[in-house]
Amino acid sequence: MVAHPDRVMIFDTTLRDGEQSPGCSMTRPEKLRVARALAELGVDVIEAGFPAASRGDFEAVEAVAREVQGPIICGLARCNPDDIELVARAVADAQHKRIHVFLATSAIHRQYKLNMAQDEILRLAATGVARARELCEDVEFSPEDASRTEIEFLAQVVETAIAAGATTVNIPDTVGYTVPDEFAELFRYLRKNVRGIENIRLSVHCHDDLGMAVANSLTAVVAGARQIECTINGIGERAGNCSLEEVVMALKTRSAFFNLHTNIQTNRLYPTSRLLSSITGQPIPRNKAVVGENAFAHESGIHQHGMLKHHSTYEILRPEDVGLQRSHLVLGKHSGRHAFRDRVKALGFELDELEFNRVFEEFKALADKKKELFDGDIEALVLRAEGSAHGPWTLAELATEARTGGTARAIVRLAHADGRLAECTATGDGPVDAAFKALEAATGIQVVLRKFEVQAVSEGEDAQGEARVYVEYNQRTYRGASVSTNIVESAARAFLEVINRIELSQAGARSQKERATAATAVTSA
Ligand code: KIV
Ligand code: ZN
Repeated sequence: MVAHPDRVMIFDTTLRDGEQSPGCSMTRPEKLRVARALAELGVDVIEAGFPAASRGDFEAVEAVAREVQGPIICGLARCNPDDIELVARAVADAQHKRIHVFLATSAIHRQYKLNMAQDEILRLAATGVARARELCEDVEFSPEDASRTEIEFLAQVVETAIAAGATTVNIPDTVGYTVPDEFAELFRYLRKNVRGIENIRLSVHCHDDLGMAVANSLTAVVAGARQIECTINGIGERAGNCSLEEVVMALKTRSAFFNLHTNIQTNRLYPTSRLLSSITGQPIPRNKAVVGENAFAHESGIHQHGMLKHHSTYEILRPEDVGLQRSHLVLGKHSGRHAFRDRVKALGFELDELEFNRVFEEFKALADKKKELFDGDIEALVLRAEGSAHGPWTLAELATEARTGGTARAIVRLAHADGRLAECTATGDGPVDAAFKALEAATGIQVVLRKFEVQAVSEGEDAQGEARVYVEYNQRTYRGASVSTNIVESAARAFLEVINRIELSQAGARSQKERATAATAVTSA
């Protein structure tokens, strides 16, 4: 049934399992931006969300299904008709679509979460998959917590799902508990004992709680899986999911061992990883395999000596294979459009003419303040170009005053999209604290600051600082980020982005409520 037995499908769940992790939630435009990047990267399936989770999730899946061509667009559903029908509606306009139905099967989940006996699980799996098949040709079934399910019962569930019409069966290690040899054995057992398994695609979905998600996914592939579920930068519940860039580069670098390939354009890995990091505000650890800052750095004398003789002494991947085209070429205010365009392209970004012109204007403005612009500065300009939550508030002016041992003062002047102007002064423990307080007073939004960090995006004394702010408001986490050569300004802009996200989500919730009231009025009329 699997048409090309040596090809492994890459199922990306960054927008669903990845987005579920704390601090990684994305707005609809951000999800669309990531989905487009995933399509360019060459993933086979994009799991765009869990439509039953919220109206926003439904609309995001719908938008991705309408606007992103190429990959199969998939939505997740619990094993009940309402969820399944919701996914069918959300993915209806996709060029290629899939419904992904999941149901927990382990004794622990049956007893504590579902309070269901084995025969109820079998009945539910059969009816859920059958309903999904009535609505869509392509149906995936996942027995949640498969790796902790009694093996004979798991085989029964998988056989039932296949008989009901599942075209892909995914085996999740939901809590990141399994180890490679045990997991390979589980796949071999299923392939040997489940009727009809040769007619479907077997998939693997691993979490990283014990740091083995990539190893467990690879071992499943050796044992017969032909789809890997993974996320960019390995983001996901708790310790995260199997990292897409790591598992893909392992298959590619060790192709003589695995004899398998994927459709991933590996030179898109680094830009996609950076894009996601900038959108979610989750930094990539320096030592992260494949895309971390240090992945291609050689510090020790012995290693540097070896590298000078031949790169293969200490490097098993070439930076350019993953789209990392670092250069020591420095741009400045005399650099023209041509040089700037070449650098943007070499860094792996494709901008349309409108975006390019805007980023070039920002480049020129920055080059007036900063003598030399490095790759990090250019990446920051491109990634921030449309990543931030625009309006409704804009910062017209910020002035701060601070003295050692004294109280700092900040004055902010803001303009609102509805025409209001607001000006406030506040004092604080340092200029950043004072600026945050002045912004709260001016906008009337009081938040609890959870984290604030600043990091240089490039080199030199006049390096730009990227500020990231994480706050809590009404039991939800919001984040904002901004880049500037002035770190107090960058902190204030990041804080204002948080305020804007809060206002935008409040406006979204209000219009959702109004739509619901209007719908009730229509139904009761
Ligand atoms: O980890 C898990 O079990 C999941 C399923 C919904 C596939 O994410
Ligand atoms: Zn998962």
